[in-house]
Amino acid sequence: MGEGREFTVVVLISGRGSNCQNLIRQARNYSIVGVVSNNADAGGFAYAREAGIEAIAVDRESAGSLARQKQQIDSHIEELAPDLIALAGYMQILENDFVERFEGKIVNIHPSLLPRFKGLDTHKRALQAFRQASGTTNPEHGCTVHYVDCGIDTGAIIAQARCRIIASDTEETLAARVLHLEHRLFPWVVNAIAANEIAYHDRQARFSQKVIEQAAEHGFLLPECASAMEVG
Ligand code: GRF
Repeated sequence: MGEGREFTVVVLISGRGSNCQNLIRQARNYSIVGVVSNNADAGGFAYAREAGIEAIAVDRESAGSLARQKQQIDSHIEELAPDLIALAGYMQILENDFVERFEGKIVNIHPSLLPRFKGLDTHKRALQAFRQASGTTNPEHGCTVHYVDCGIDTGAIIAQARCRIIASDTEETLAARVLHLEHRLFPWVVNAIAANEIAYHDRQARFSQKVIEQAAEHGFLLPECASAMEVG
């Protein structure tokens, strides 16, 4: 990043858009230059437009096929040329060539403590696991921000926020508690990447000392080896 140039982010969404809203609200070190969706009814759109951010929807029907929809989304992102792509509830699988072209520049928020519960229905599965263990082990759940690679929820972990599962939890109460954490964690990570306090190197997240300290203050978890790594 050159001095003085703003760090740009494109947010991809498919649904409710609450993480997108929080990325917009809490932007300090970056500027969101576009919100792109595969669903014209995505909830984050109105909020993005009110904030003066370009909001682009490409649905499958108007594109004609899934392949054309993905191509069109891809070319909108290429045109916006962001420094970072933030997947905030984006429910469409990215093509490998896209992921490879933007290696180290795509981050995703996932509602579980990866590597546990990759994929869908994370809150239900976390509750089931908790109940099967009669509440004795793994009473924790949470969310993860990670770099995106060609697998599903397999890329290098950047940071996690956790909460306790309690016996009276339902999927809904647990989801709400995790979503509250997502709204804190995701903007924090994106602000830190934009400030070059978190960087991608050798397929891993690397952290400045400042960010390691901040994570501890917020109660966020960094990968185990984080204290050994520093950004330059
Ligand atoms: C969040 O739980 C996120 O972790 C997951 O999809 C959900 C999106 O919620 N990937 P929202 O659209 O940001 O409200």
